[in-house]
Amino acid sequence: MLDNISRTQRVLRYRDNDKVISKIMRGMPYYEVEKQEQVGEESENLVIRGECLSACAYLKEQGIKVDLVYIDPPFASGADYAKKINIRRNPKLAEKIKKAEEELEIEELKEFEETMYGDIWQKEDYLNWMYENLMAIKSILSESGTIYLHIDGKIGHYVKILMDEVFGEENFRNEIIWHYDIGTAPKTDFKRKHDTIFRYSKNHEEIVFNIITINAKNEDRYDNVDDNGRKYMVRGDTGKIVYSDEGQKEDDVWTYYKSDEFRTLNSMAKERTEIGYSTQKPEALVQRIVNASSNEFIENEDGSKRKMIVADFFGGSGVTAKVANDLGRKFIHADIGINSIQTTRDRLVAAGANFQVLEIKDGVSLFRNPQQTMDKLAKLIPGLQQKVPGVGKFWFGALQDSKLGTVPVYVPNLIDGSEKVLDIPAVNRIINEELQKLDINAQKAIVYYVDVDDRKALEKFIKDNNATQTTIELKDLKEILHAIVVEDEVETKTTQTKESFEVEIVKFVSDRLNQKINDFNEKGNLQAINKGKKFSPIIISEEGLELIEYLSLDCENAEGVWTSSSEIKIDKLGYISINGQKTKDFWNGKISADKKPLRLKIRNISGDETIKVFE
Ligand SMILES: C[S@@+](CC[C@H](N)C(=O)[O-])C[C@H]1O[C@@H](n2cnc3c(N)ncnc32)[C@H](O)[C@@H]1O
Repeated sequence: MLDNISRTQRVLRYRDNDKVISKIMRGMPYYEVEKQEQVGEESENLVIRGECLSACAYLKEQGIKVDLVYIDPPFASGADYAKKINIRRNPKLAEKIKKAEEELEIEELKEFEETMYGDIWQKEDYLNWMYENLMAIKSILSESGTIYLHIDGKIGHYVKILMDEVFGEENFRNEIIWHYDIGTAPKTDFKRKHDTIFRYSKNHEEIVFNIITINAKNEDRYDNVDDNGRKYMVRGDTGKIVYSDEGQKEDDVWTYYKSDEFRTLNSMAKERTEIGYSTQKPEALVQRIVNASSNEFIENEDGSKRKMIVADFFGGSGVTAKVANDLGRKFIHADIGINSIQTTRDRLVAAGANFQVLEIKDGVSLFRNPQQTMDKLAKLIPGLQQKVPGVGKFWFGALQDSKLGTVPVYVPNLIDGSEKVLDIPAVNRIINEELQKLDINAQKAIVYYVDVDDRKALEKFIKDNNATQTTIELKDLKEILHAIVVEDEVETKTTQTKESFEVEIVKFVSDRLNQKINDFNEKGNLQAINKGKKFSPIIISEEGLELIEYLSLDCENAEGVWTSSSEIKIDKLGYISINGQKTKDFWNGKISADKKPLRLKIRNISGDETIKVFE
């Protein structure tokens, strides 16, 4: 039988990958970028709120190339990542609480959850999205640059094929196994205790690489001791003497609990950011990558030197930026979620870093992050029903109209940024494929867009090419999106003393949070009734100060860029950090600055920001 194997040439394809190629040919959308804040001294370090694609487009336009990229994108793991939200202590009650401290343990502090980002994808959609991101990253990676992509065993092998295609098989350098010691033991499988990190260089001639050595893994092998008390072994094959304290070249299996350097991972708890990013990676892991594949400086062609740039376009809690800064590299952090930007900003402030905060203005007022915005949208389009029979998953849902019957509604998926621009190929797909696939007789369909190049041209295209009976109405999604983002309200009292200006927060009201808390209480109550248990609801005080996580007084505004002169961050136990420095004090509901404050910025415990400008 084996003699009869016939080989046919197979081309690896996955569903819809031709659409990605056509999207890439159409180009990346490029949006305006606004500088939000300067932290510390003028610097080229960047914290960018925006998608990986848009951040790369911005760097490309600015002619910025990066030398090392570490990314840890969503793994398509099927999980919804959630942020734990902790109600802070009410400063008005701080004194009382201080006394009752012993009884009031952490578990009593009320917390609830909020989706940070969804990681639920169809495999094909995920790979298409990843392909675009990799293409974008490649276009801003310097010639001697390296990319490390952190992924898991479920999807990693597919992603490697994409990387081979984008970066070239000849540039594949390592598949690193990061072997950790956390996680549960399934009953019918081996424990899953590793992630994979693919390392590719931009080309295979100019590679920046520093060998990493680790301390002896197996002390028993060093069975000789020299006159100075140093342990050594004699290599059987070469007769070479190897000392135990010399270190060994690290291989591609990074087992954290077997090397000294990684043993520090046990202290990961200390690094944990307030927000509790469940996917937060340890600094030691990224340190090793930064040390191996970058130096502080690199020589330009003309012999001058420049600092190397380390970038992370799925930056999360800011581990890469923090490590790069510690090691004297320049850094670029990008992430789509507001919580990531805030966590990273605060982490870098505490580390004394200098950087700019930029925001990519892509016309979308996101409600915290794309996932939460999509969740909200379903409720905001009046009458919209999701999962309507006969209307496939391409459509966001449908409306029921008394005259027109079922009206399918298309909404671009904000999680896949490239869908935001409605262009002719996208409309072509709607009229020539998706309308025909409907199992209902639709007289009308509504197509929402965030961005169009030329609405008239689109309308003409529809008129000339729509062979179906369905009329298409184009609608601007931004109008609905703007309605989502409502600011919280704050009442303040300012007093001026000889030395400083003091602003007292008298009252803080957040409808968004109140709604969330009400939902939480209702659900909790219902569950408790069903289980015959008692439920103690979250009750927010009249002043509402326990809903505040951070506040700053901005006293300078140079050419529209704000600089905070004084800032307070309240941790989940109620202790405050002032200008990045931790204290053992509780917040007293006030903030002061030396200069006259121009505006007050408040971040609530879910990450929504509210700004009050002083007259
Ligand atoms: C696995 S987490 C990264 C964790 C990070 N390595 C750390 O140690 O904290 C993935 C991050 O990607 C972000 N993200 C998802 N889609 C994105 C996109 N298109 N562009 C930029 N960031 C995105 C999410 O908001 C999330 O913070």
